[in-house]
Parts: sequence; structure tokens; C-alpha cells
Amino acid sequence: MKYDYLIVGAGLFGSIFAYEAGKRGKKCLVIDKRSHIAGNIYTNKIEDINVHQYGAHIFHTSNEKVWSYIQQFAKFNRYTNSPVAVYKEELYNLPFNMNTFHQLWKVNSPAQAKEMIQKQIKESGITNPKNLEEQAISLVGKDIYEKLIKGYTQKQWGQSAKELPSFIIKRLPVRFTYDNNYFNDLYQGIPIGGYTQMIEKMLKDSEIRLNTDYFENREELYSLADKIVFTGMIDEFYNYQFGTLEYRSLSFESEVLEEENHQGNAVVNFTEYEIPYTRIIEHKHFEFGTQPKTVITREYPKTWTKGDEPYYPVNNEKNNKMYEQYKELAQKEETVIFGGRLAEYKYYDMHHVIEQALTCIEQEFD
Ligand code: FDA
Repeated sequence: MKYDYLIVGAGLFGSIFAYEAGKRGKKCLVIDKRSHIAGNIYTNKIEDINVHQYGAHIFHTSNEKVWSYIQQFAKFNRYTNSPVAVYKEELYNLPFNMNTFHQLWKVNSPAQAKEMIQKQIKESGITNPKNLEEQAISLVGKDIYEKLIKGYTQKQWGQSAKELPSFIIKRLPVRFTYDNNYFNDLYQGIPIGGYTQMIEKMLKDSEIRLNTDYFENREELYSLADKIVFTGMIDEFYNYQFGTLEYRSLSFESEVLEEENHQGNAVVNFTEYEIPYTRIIEHKHFEFGTQPKTVITREYPKTWTKGDEPYYPVNNEKNNKMYEQYKELAQKEETVIFGGRLAEYKYYDMHHVIEQALTCIEQEFD
């Protein structure tokens, strides 16, 4: 065999695997059907700004092992995710905290804010929420739901909140402090210089073939290596024999603007239903950029059909059951390792993927 591993997918999972295998003297061929490495964390330089091509990517974790592992590939800045939400002409801080409550009701104390939320929950009279709308109102009351959750969620899922199941929202964290930091994690930041350079370092000892779809040349590629690390869609790997796993997709519309600072924040959510996009990302703010121009990206949620980019798995009962059938087949494979968000049909943040990849490496090599 020419290679020890054929790695399908040059995203975070595949690239960590390639790096660790390379360190152990193994030869890897890494293929990706896209024209670039880094998968969904790909950053592309436009006007000297690192543009997050597949949506805003903010690294966060409380896992010491993951945080110290990733430091070898980049220096991280002190970026803290503190999105704002625009509803009609009003502007609110997120996640829901004392700033938001002051903006909504002009209250200044946690006791007043708690009282307001409790009053609205009580007034709703909902005791057994039957859909997402009722669930959200029973957790945070009518005002927060109407202005900050309803339209955004309907755009995200392409369905009315009354038709969506309540389980989509399990908790809606509210903070009674003036804290706009979106994440609760111990560590957070953006790799200075973008994510792509991190992946370049991971793939430095591997052979890379881009624009190469595994399924277009399966036999030949399969014969090149002892083992496969597959990070693509698990249902496609098994020719959709149990059916097609569903996703939600997104489309991104980017624009270079002849101004230095468009919205003053990296992430602005648009929560009213009438605006078709959910967010505008202004990329330079991830790295505190001072370039003369700026790049923004509008993010539109959309229905996924086969061939579209699969972004968010729809983990309902039907799909999860189907995934279990695929997983059963996968567990019987002796020469194929499945990993990453598409092969495991799970929404994974980057730190989850790193954790999974490191566990997989331990199992494979130690
Ligand atoms: P990834 O999709 O990156 O890599 C898989 C690769 O396999 C792709 O490059 C694909 O082209 C390739 N491939 C698939 N099938 C193939 C085939 N048949 N042949 C060849 N190649 C094939 N996380 C976080 O921590 N903070 C954040 O802020 C965000 N933000 C965020 C926003 C949005 C909009 C999304 C959708 C996701 C996030 N994430 C995130 C999650 C993050 O993107 C995710 O954890 C990693 O990119 C997953 O890495 P993987 O390697 O698993 O998949």
C-alpha cells in the first residue's frame, strides 16, 4: 500500500488525525472535495481581513487538554463573543442579561428583572408547553420571546414556532448580571491570522489532493491505503440504504464595503421575521482589525436538499433512529474510522471535534 491512511475530509477532525499519524511516522493522503483545506473552519483573506467563509467561528472550551493542544498551532487573541440583536429599530445585548432587561423594561435591579419575567410567565398560564412557542414563553415570558426568539427561530427552522416541537429549546439561560459574554467557557478566542494557517500546520507532512470526491473514485482511492478515516456523510458512505439523513442548510452572501466599520461588532443577529437573514458578520472585528475597508456576510438559513452544504443535523427521532442503523454498520468496519460532525451526524463545536479526534487517536495508536 502506498499510504497508511486515506483521510477523507481536510476539516478539523481529518487534519488532527493526519497530524498525529504523521508524528508517529505514518503516511497519509488527505483528500477533500472542496477546493481548499480546513473544511467549515476555512478562513480566506479578503482586503487583508480573515473572512470566516462558512459562518462565524469562535473558539471556546473549558477543557484544559483541548485548549493546551490547540495552542501549538496558533496564538489566540482575547476575542469574547458578545453578539447584539436588532429587532425593528431596537438594539439588545445577548445573551439575555441585565443589559437586555434594562433595554426591554428599563429595570435596573436583578430583583425587578426577575419579577418581570416571573409575572409574564405566570400571565401566560402555560403549564404543559406543546410547541416551541409555548416552551419559550413558559421559560422567559412574552417580551423576550416576541422580540428576540420568535422571528429568529422561525427563520432558522423555516417553520412557525407553533409547529416546531418544544424539545428544540430545553433551556433559555438568563443572567441577572451585566455580562454580555455569550459563552460560559473558561477559554475563548480567535486564532490570530485565521483558522486556515492552523490546518496548514496540521497537514504539513501529508499529501493533499483537493477537488477530489471520495465517491467519484471510490475503488481507486480505497486501494491506496491500509485504512480510511472518513469524515464525510455517513449515509452517503452506505449509499443511503436506510434513507437520507436530513440537515438545515445556509447560504452566505459576502460584500466588501468601502467603510472602515459597518456595525461595530462581529456578530449582529436580526431577530424580526421580515428580514430574511439571521445574522450579519463583520469579520474584521474578530481580530480587532483596522483595515480601511470591511467585509460583511449575511447568513440566510435554508432548506437542505441533497447536494446542498449540510450544516445543521436535524436530530429528531426519525433521523436519530436512522443514524443508529448506519452507526451499527460503521462499528463493524475494521479498516474504516468514522469521525467528525458529518460521520457522527451531530452538531459539534470545534472543541468537541478536537476532543473526539484525540480520543480516536488514543484508540488507534496507544
Ligand atoms: P468539516 O465539515 O469541517 O470537514 C469535513 C470535510 O470533509 C469537508 O471539508 C468536506 O468538504 C469533506 N468531505 C465531505 N465529504 C467528502 C467526500 N465525499 N470526499 C471528499 N471530501 C469530503 N464551532 C465552534 O466551536 N464555534 C463556533 O463559533 C462555530 N460556529 C459555527 C457556525 C456554523 C454556521 C456552523 C455550521 C458550524 C459552526 N461551528 C462552530 C462548528 C464547526 O464548524 C465544526 O465543529 C467543525 O468545522 C467540524 O469539523 P469536521 O472536521 O468534523 O467537519
